[in-house]
Amino acid sequence: MLIPRPLSLVRRPGTFALGPRTLVRGPDELVAALRRELAGAALPLSTAIANPEGRIELDLDPRMAAERYLLSIGPSAIRIVGGTRAGVLHGIQSLRQLLPPAIYRRAPVPGVRWEVPCVHVVDEPRFPWRGGMLDVGRHFMPKDFLFRFVDLLAIHKFNVFHLHLTEDQGWRFESRRYPRLMEVGAWRRETRGDATPHGGFYTQDDLREVVAYASEREIAIVPEIDMPGHTQAVVASYPEFGNDPEHPVGVATGWGVMEEVLNLEEPTLRFCEEILEEVMDVFPGPHVHIGGDECPTTQWAASERAARRMRELGIEDVARAQPWFTRRIAAFLAERGRRLVGWDEVVEEAPLPGATIMGWRSQEHGLNAARMGQEVVMTPLFRTYLTIGATPARTEPGGWRLALSLDEVYAYEPAPPELEAEARERVLGTQFGMWTEFIDTPRDLEVMAFPRACALAEVAWSPPERDLADFRRRLGSHLARLDALGVNYRPPDGLRPWQRVAPRDDAIGEEDSDQSR
Ligand code: ACM
Repeated sequence: MLIPRPLSLVRRPGTFALGPRTLVRGPDELVAALRRELAGAALPLSTAIANPEGRIELDLDPRMAAERYLLSIGPSAIRIVGGTRAGVLHGIQSLRQLLPPAIYRRAPVPGVRWEVPCVHVVDEPRFPWRGGMLDVGRHFMPKDFLFRFVDLLAIHKFNVFHLHLTEDQGWRFESRRYPRLMEVGAWRRETRGDATPHGGFYTQDDLREVVAYASEREIAIVPEIDMPGHTQAVVASYPEFGNDPEHPVGVATGWGVMEEVLNLEEPTLRFCEEILEEVMDVFPGPHVHIGGDECPTTQWAASERAARRMRELGIEDVARAQPWFTRRIAAFLAERGRRLVGWDEVVEEAPLPGATIMGWRSQEHGLNAARMGQEVVMTPLFRTYLTIGATPARTEPGGWRLALSLDEVYAYEPAPPELEAEARERVLGTQFGMWTEFIDTPRDLEVMAFPRACALAEVAWSPPERDLADFRRRLGSHLARLDALGVNYRPPDGLRPWQRVAPRDDAIGEEDSDQSR
C-alpha cells in the first residue's frame, strides 16, 4: 500500500472513517501538521468536540529512534507516535497515503469517503540521508516550484533538499556584498544559440521562506555554492577573481566543463568565505556543500600569477591546488560549526577529515571515499541522475543518450554487501539528482523525476530486500496520488502526449558523459 515500503505493516479487520466529528488530540504543532497534510479532506479535525465520532491521537516518545513511528489504525481510533516531530510527520504521510488519493487535492471532490483500512505500521528509515538535488543554475526554476519540490520530497519521506545554486551558466543566490553576481552572473545572453536570454535568482528572503517551509516538513536544505570550478558566472561578474582579468568572459551559454575557474589569491578566498557567510546566514543546517567537481587545472597551469602563488604557499604540483583550496574552506566552515559537503573529486588526492562526500562519478568513487574514512552520500550518475532518460529512445527532455529505467533505479544498492561493514556505517544514504541542462520547465523536470524518484525513495528508506513486482503494484496506486497532485510523471510504460518524439541531435552522449556535465 505504502511507498516507500514500511518496515512492517499488518492489516487488521475493519476501517476507520474520518468525518466532521473526528476529534484530534496531541501537541499543538503536531495537530497543526496533521491539519495541513489532511487539508484536502476539508474537515475541522477539531481538538474539542462534544460528541466525537472517532479520534486521532498524536504523540512523541523520546525513547524511540528519531525518525521511527508507529501508526495504529483501529475502527474508532488512530494513533501516531514518533520518536521526534519528524517521526510523527512520517506517520502522517503514511496515513495520508492510506486515505483515498483525493486527499492530495486542494479541495474535496464529490463522493469521497475518508476511510482508511485498519493497520498496524511500525516503520523507520534505513538511511538518515534521503535526498533530492535540484540544479537551478543551468535553468532557473521559479520559487513556487521549490515549494512544490519540497512537498513532493515530503510525501516520499525524503529529508534532504540539495539545492545546487551556482553554475557557469547562472548564479542564483542573492549576495548583498557582491551585487554584480545578480546584475551580471544571474543572466545569460542565450542558451546554445537560441537567441533567448535566460536567468533569475532567489533573494535571501525567498530562500529563507523556502528553508522555513521545508523545515516545517522536516526537510533540511543543503545549499551548494560550487567552487573553485563551475564558476564562470562569478568570473563574468568579477573578472578579478578569475585567472585572466585582461580577457573578460560572459556567463556561459553552452554546456560542458568550462576552463574558467577561480584564482588562488587571498581576496578570492575571502570572496568565497564572505559568500559562505551569507549562505550560512540563510541556511541554518549543519551541511554546506561547496561542490568541488570538475575543476580543470588548465588556467592555473598556464598562469604566472598562479605559479607565484603556489610557490608562496608551498604547493609543488598544480594537482595539489584544489586540495589546498578545499582544506582552507573546510577549516573556515568548521570554525563556524558547519560541515563541508563536496563531490567526490575533493578527496581525489587525500582524505578530508570531517567532510561528507557525494560519490557521483561512479559507485566505486563513493565506496572508496567511505573506505577512506569519509561519510558518504551515494549518488552515482548512472544510477541516480534522473535527468538521464528512462529509456534509450531519446524521446525525453533530459537530453542524454543513456537510459536509466524505473526498475534499475529500484534495484540500486547504495551500501552493497561487498563494502566492509565498518565502511558501510559511513554510508549516510543516497539521493537523486536533477541536472537541468536540457530541462527548462517544472513540467519537464517532473516528467524526468517521477516516478523514478518514488523508486529511489524506497531505496533510501526501506530495508534492502527488493521485490520489484510488489513495488510496481504499489506504484500503480501511488500514481493515482500523483495524478491528484497534478504531477507530470512519466507513465512507467509510455510517454506523455507532449513528450518529444524526435531524437534530439544535441544530446549528451554516452562516450563523453563523464566529461560533459
Ligand atoms: C556532477 O554531476 N558534476 C556532480
